Parts: sequence; structure tokens; C-alpha cells
Amino acid sequence: MTLQQLLGIELPIVQAPMAGVQGNALAVAVSNAGGLGSLPCAMLSPDAMRKELAAISAKTSKPFNVNFFCHTPPTPSAEREAAWRAALAPYYQEYEIDAANIPAGPGRAPFSSDAADVLEEFKPAVVSFHFGLPSAELLARVRAWGSKIFSSATTVEEARWLAARGVDAIIAQGVEAGGHRGIFLSNDLTTQVGTIALLPQIVRAVKLPVIAAGGIADARGVAAAMALGAAGVQIGTAYLLCPETDTSAVHRAALKSESARHTALTNLFTGRPARGIVNRIMKELGPISTVVPAFPLATAAIAPLRAKAESRGCGDFTSLWSGQNASGCREIPAAQLTRELAQ
Ligand SMILES: Cc1cc2nc3c(=O)[nH]c(=O)nc-3n(C[C@H](O)[C@H](O)[C@H](O)COP(=O)(O)O)c2cc1C
Repeated sequence: MTLQQLLGIELPIVQAPMAGVQGNALAVAVSNAGGLGSLPCAMLSPDAMRKELAAISAKTSKPFNVNFFCHTPPTPSAEREAAWRAALAPYYQEYEIDAANIPAGPGRAPFSSDAADVLEEFKPAVVSFHFGLPSAELLARVRAWGSKIFSSATTVEEARWLAARGVDAIIAQGVEAGGHRGIFLSNDLTTQVGTIALLPQIVRAVKLPVIAAGGIADARGVAAAMALGAAGVQIGTAYLLCPETDTSAVHRAALKSESARHTALTNLFTGRPARGIVNRIMKELGPISTVVPAFPLATAAIAPLRAKAESRGCGDFTSLWSGQNASGCREIPAAQLTRELAQ
């Protein structure tokens, strides 16, 4: 079954939810263009979420997707927090930041019953999850009001696990993808493979629509994914320069530069592996570090460095999320990009 048949949309294009760089404007533009727009909620409070969802509902009557992380919040460890701040100490000194005044805290919240309460008011066509699935109880609530449920798989094993729990479609996230790896059954990054290897294996392993994600940047990439059995594609990086995003100035500049060709998986910014353009902190402390607190607790200590550097036009401490193929990033309206990707 194609994505169009499953959802009643016109184009097999899902705009990837991208927490921190977009709100309702991008989702509305893509849904109105005939694709599936997405609202990422990992960094939104329930009130902020309600505002964004109300804006989408006011501006489109087309199907859209609402996306959540569903990690288990870790128990904070004072020891790991101290080790992480010690690693960052030279940078605090360089930027004259008083580390004693930096509050610790999560920065990203998993799907919860509070979020479900807000979501129930809107009953979106699709709810998608990253890092597995929420509790059976929460999942049953979402299913009961009729939303289709999608989640990311980074291995065949994860795809089978999701299929066994009744998801409606699986997002096959190849290792090229920008942002967080959806990996959830293992911590072993050697299990992560590219889209062209992962997609046909997942298509063979499950009897569900499979959405290809990672490294797809133009219409030929979309056609290639469809030729390998995809029901649709989920594209993130290519949308990052569209005027409907909130991509920061330093992030935009990096995406437009030669440095976008060099990305890596790093856990420095949040505690979980995510793909971003290699910058100073990734070179000096990582890209993968063992002193980083568990996801999402790494965020707090790095935040003031990021803010101060960015205010000077410097992306040395910014998570410059990008996939391995930034060649599709263009400063054109998201509706136009969506139509061109589907051509
Ligand atoms: C800036 C950025 C932020 C992202 N944030 C999320 C997110 O909040 N939730 C999610 O499920 N995936 C997120 N992703 C991953 C995408 O869903 C998708 O897997 C990826 O963008 C596909 O690869 P591509 O970037 O090469 O198109 C993000 C990706 C990027 C580039």
C-alpha cells in the first residue's frame, strides 16, 4: 500500500519532523502542497504544543503528522554531570561563563499522558515516534482516537519489533539521516546501515508500508527509494533552508558551505547519537564521548556555550544537524520543494 492510499494524501512525501528548527509553518506548507507535514513535539511544553496544533488546524484541513520522542527519562547522575562539566570547563573559561549558574535538566521530554491529553483535542491523521514506542497504555489511547501510528526502525530487528506492536507504517532510517538515530533495541552503532541496504531488507521482513529516510535529497532519490519498495519517503535535511523553518543563521551558513559534506554521528549535544556537521566541539571532544550524561541530560551544560558562541556568529557549540546529503538544501518555499521532490 502506498502512503497516498494509507492517508489520503496526494504525494508520497513526508516532511521529517525536526525538533528545534521548525514549528507549524513548515508542516502547513507541506500538507497544503499534498505531502504529509509534521510537527515535532520533543521540545514543546503541552501549552506550546496546543498553540502549534491550533495553528496547523486553522491553516490546513489536510492530514498532518505529530511527532514525539519516547525515551525513558534517565536517573540524573551527579557524577556524570560533573565529569561532563569538567570536560567543558576550558570552554566556559574561554567564553567567561560561570558554570555554577547553569541549571541541570532534560531539555527534551518523552510522550506522556499530558501530551496525549492535548493531542486528543486534535486527533491528527498520523502520530509518529522516535526511539521505539511509548507504553502500551499510551499507544492504545492514540490508536483509540484513530491516528495512524508510525515509528522509526534503524535495523531489521527494530522493524520486526515495531510490526509486532501494531504500527501502521515503519520509517526505515538509514545511517545517512540527519538528526537523532532512532536506534532503540541496542546501543551498538555498528548495527547502523545505509538506506539502500536497510530499506529492501525491511520491506522484505514486514508486511507494512515502509517509508525510506536518510540521504534522500531530490526526485531521483525519491524514485530510487520507491524502486526499492518504499511506500513513501521521509525527508528532513533538504527542507532546512526553506523560509518556513526556524533554522538558525549559523546552521544555515554551515549547510550552505563546503563543511556540510563532512558530518558525523555525535552524542555530545544530547547524550544520544545524532548526525550533524562536524564542528569544533565534535573534533575536540568527540564525536562520540563516554563522559556525556545520558540522553537528554547532556543538553543543559552545553546550552550557554551554544548561546554565547551563536551570538558571535559562531557554530562551534551548536548541534548542526544534517544528513550526509545536504545537496538538496535550497532556499525555496517548502511547497515548491515538496512538489519537485515528487516529480
Ligand atoms: C534538524 C533535524 C532535526 C530532526 N529532529 C527529529 C525529531 O524531532 N523527530 C524525529 O523523529 N526525527 C528527527 N530527525 C530525523 C528525521 O526524522 C529523518 O530521519 C531524517 O531527517 C532523514 O534523513 P535526511 O535528513 O537525510 O533527509 C531530525 C533530522 C534533522 C535533520
